[in-house]
Amino acid sequence: MPVADHIFRLAFDTFLGVTEPAALLSDISLVKTRWAANPNAAFVAEANTELVGSNFATNWGSVGFFGPLTIRPDFWDKGIGKRLMDPVMALFEEWKTKHAGLFTFAHSPKHIGLYHKFGFCPRFLTAIMSKTVESAKSTAHCTKFSETSLGEQEEVLTACRELTDAIYEGLNVEHEIRAVAHQKMGDTVLLWSNNKLAGFAVCHTGAGTEAGSGTCYIKFAAARPEQNAEQIFNLLLDACEEMASAKNLSRLVAGVNTARYKAYRQMLARNFRTYLQGVVMAKPNEAGYNRSDVYLIDDWR
Ligand SMILES: CC(C)(COP(=O)(O)OP(=O)(O)OC[C@H]1O[C@@H](n2cnc3c(N)ncnc32)[C@H](O)[C@@H]1OP(=O)(O)O)[C@@H](O)C(=O)NCCC(=O)NCCS
Repeated sequence: MPVADHIFRLAFDTFLGVTEPAALLSDISLVKTRWAANPNAAFVAEANTELVGSNFATNWGSVGFFGPLTIRPDFWDKGIGKRLMDPVMALFEEWKTKHAGLFTFAHSPKHIGLYHKFGFCPRFLTAIMSKTVESAKSTAHCTKFSETSLGEQEEVLTACRELTDAIYEGLNVEHEIRAVAHQKMGDTVLLWSNNKLAGFAVCHTGAGTEAGSGTCYIKFAAARPEQNAEQIFNLLLDACEEMASAKNLSRLVAGVNTARYKAYRQMLARNFRTYLQGVVMAKPNEAGYNRSDVYLIDDWR
């Protein structure tokens, strides 16, 4: 695990020309947390018994994505990245993934070329955005998955599944909700309206998670696709900010595909600013849930 984690940091630092080692990813953890969430979807490459790279697939029901794919820099351009794509593509087949994708560097011909070989096509940009946490109080009726009794958890997971299914058939992020709960990485905020789940947000908080120190990272959030979706989306973001503030976190991070234009615009209006952007590639070359009226946060990193 430490070797795979080290290569993950070294590969990104090298590609992006970060001179201070490990500065970019600081105490953000992806390798360990994704392996723990589903060891059967974690793959490594070995050369002469040495670990030289890793890749991870994620199952969101009818949707699947992969990453981080990282190879030790002295082994780049030797076909190892391609080899680490094979088991991931086989898993998508096994999972009967309808819409597969990834997030990558839009400016890199190598990255786009590599993934295109596997049938992925470049689509819209995804903006990774952040804002300073303000200590506003949310007015919405919210609960947290961590406070849900064991008996009620299955009901809540079903409600989450029904909500995402209404956005894109078969989309199911139960895996993320369970991973956050089991690994104690943060919490899932549940927003209720008339006793019905109106929206939810899966958040990672602090060091050793996908957020990192001082940060609340909204890994996935969605508002029920109804007429008041914009209002629900706003209340959901309020609730995430309130949770971040209660945990003394100073930064809120969330990614949104710019094809979800209304959500992107709403986040800009709430003072979220893009600090990193990449392109989403999809197989087949279809929008999936990246439509302008979908109020959903995720970034497939
Ligand atoms: C990106 C990364 C995983 C690729 O791994 P790798 O082992 O170097 O890649 P491979 O050698 O298997 O394959 C690269 C392919 O891209 C192709 N390629 C390279 N430059 C290209 C270009 N300009 N246009 C089109 N294709 C190109 C190569 O030809 C090769 O395919 P081929 O062997 O069929 O000719 C690795 O460079 C890495 O770890 N980078 C830093 C971390 C990172 O960016 N990860 C991915 C995040 S999405």
